[in-house]
Amino acid sequence: MSKSKLDKFAELGAFPNAYQNFSYAQPALVGKDGAPAQLQGAWGEAHFGNARPITLELACGRAEYTVGLARRFPERNFIGVDIKGNRIWFGARQALDEGLDNAAFLRTDITLLDCFFGPGEVAEIWITFPDPYLKKSKARKRLTAPRFLNLYRQLAGPGVVVHLKTDERRLHDWSLETVQEFGAELQSAEADIDAFKREHGAYPVPELEIPTYYERLHRDLGKAITYLRFCLP
Ligand SMILES: C[S@@+](CC[C@H](N)C(=O)[O-])C[C@H]1O[C@@H](n2cnc3c(N)ncnc32)[C@H](O)[C@@H]1O
Repeated sequence: MSKSKLDKFAELGAFPNAYQNFSYAQPALVGKDGAPAQLQGAWGEAHFGNARPITLELACGRAEYTVGLARRFPERNFIGVDIKGNRIWFGARQALDEGLDNAAFLRTDITLLDCFFGPGEVAEIWITFPDPYLKKSKARKRLTAPRFLNLYRQLAGPGVVVHLKTDERRLHDWSLETVQEFGAELQSAEADIDAFKREHGAYPVPELEIPTYYERLHRDLGKAITYLRFCLP
């Protein structure tokens, strides 16, 4: 029998690999069984027990990238970030079942990330199928809007590599323009990763093999999957 949302919320609160913030006004993390967790600038020492580089997966949903990358790269650490605890539960449960000590999960609004990471604490960012917010009036909510690029630069320092995988061509095109105006170095821009694979025999990066829940839904509708990789100035 599948678990209810409430069951998932309760279980997530008892997981040793998940942290949650419940307040915009006074952001603060709690970990297993509601214990306060002070992790800003201390994820390596206080959670992972090592100083290995940290990759964030933003808008992670069920966190297929956090889990998939943690399997592929045991020498790195990964944190999936999403506001929805019942979605993060899937990734956190999977990581526990597989003993993936290099994967952790953070339930918060992404706009608050500077409260939970120290400057330069993040080494790399994946953004997987974010909500596209196509209305012009909502453009500042897109995770590649300049205010988020500034936030990423603060968390990661200059030179951080950001990957965007989406099914939404308009978000891809807008992001391409926005990051270039921002002064980012463009490393890859593919409007159809499967067409790229047919032509070159492989995806632009092997990590693109990892499928996500929303990716499957969009592929079933026949949509092309796009990929952007850029390095922030
Ligand atoms: C379309 S889903 C994609 C989920 C997953 N990456 C996938 O591909 O299946 C977008 C996700 O972004 C999350 N999200 C949107 N805005 C957010 C924000 N400001 N902070 C945290 N999560 C956010 C939503 O909760 C949702 O799970």
